[in-house]
Amino acid sequence: MQVDGCVAFVSGANRGVGACFVKMLLEQGARKVYASARDISVLDDRDPRVVPVALDITNAEQVARAAALASDVNLLVNNAGINRLEPALVATDLNAARAEMEVNYFGTLNMIRAFAPSLRLSGGAIVNMSSILARVALPAMASLCASKAAALRMTEAVRAELAPHGVRVLSILPGAVDTDMSRDFPPPKIPVAEVVDAAFAALRDGNDEVYVGAMAQQIAAGLATDRLAVQLSLARGA
Ligand SMILES: NC(=O)c1ccc[n+]([C@@H]2O[C@H](COP(=O)([O-])OP(=O)(O)OC[C@H]3O[C@@H](n4cnc5c(N)ncnc54)[C@H](OP(=O)(O)O)[C@@H]3O)[C@@H](O)[C@H]2O)c1
Repeated sequence: MQVDGCVAFVSGANRGVGACFVKMLLEQGARKVYASARDISVLDDRDPRVVPVALDITNAEQVARAAALASDVNLLVNNAGINRLEPALVATDLNAARAEMEVNYFGTLNMIRAFAPSLRLSGGAIVNMSSILARVALPAMASLCASKAAALRMTEAVRAELAPHGVRVLSILPGAVDTDMSRDFPPPKIPVAEVVDAAFAALRDGNDEVYVGAMAQQIAAGLATDRLAVQLSLARGA
């Protein structure tokens, strides 16, 4: 699929990876970009091709309204996500795990269900922003890892369900990206543009699961040969 001429919908478009998706979609010739955010007053809508949409992906009514408004979409970018940085047992906020599931898993599922009818008609594509932490557990972010793992498994199932309709469903799995979310992580961090570039290349080249950055690629390679050893090294903070 080509980005040039597409009609895209991006969630969490006000900052980080989402804002970069909007910018690069416009640069690479998108015909229209629905840029959605919980607070649309902070969106950059100077380009006339940008259509701001107020959207919290956990709000079923807002999701349905967004899908009805953007029925001409052929590229859905499920970017919105949260990371509460909590371990499994000694969590300071016992609601964090539920909040991460609500946004990262159920919110993403809400979006896919609402947009699937339009995407079936257009034969378009879905890009789900996943994480290498969907494949392996980092104990300090245990509940984030679980929510991303759930979303990754759901993505695989949706890919199979939509394939007969000519709709591709991609997972983008980076390591730490240089945004607010990873503000407190030590470097190296992947520049946001590299993540978006990788997603566009995958759309073009036909890859459905893309590991972005050296760290994610090394972990994925390790998982393919000795999953338990990789899990152990992350548990030890190696
Ligand atoms: N940064 C990393 O290291 C990293 C690594 C791997 C994967 N990812 C994934 O990449 C995606 C983008 O993350 P980022 O790094 O750009 O994070 P970010 O800078 O924290 O931005 C997150 C975006 O998601 C939006 N969002 C959160 N909850 C939402 C909800 N319920 N409804 C709609 N929008 C919501 C935020 O909106 P508000 O401004 O309203 O909060 C914001 O626009 C996420 O799915 C994340 O898990 C990030």
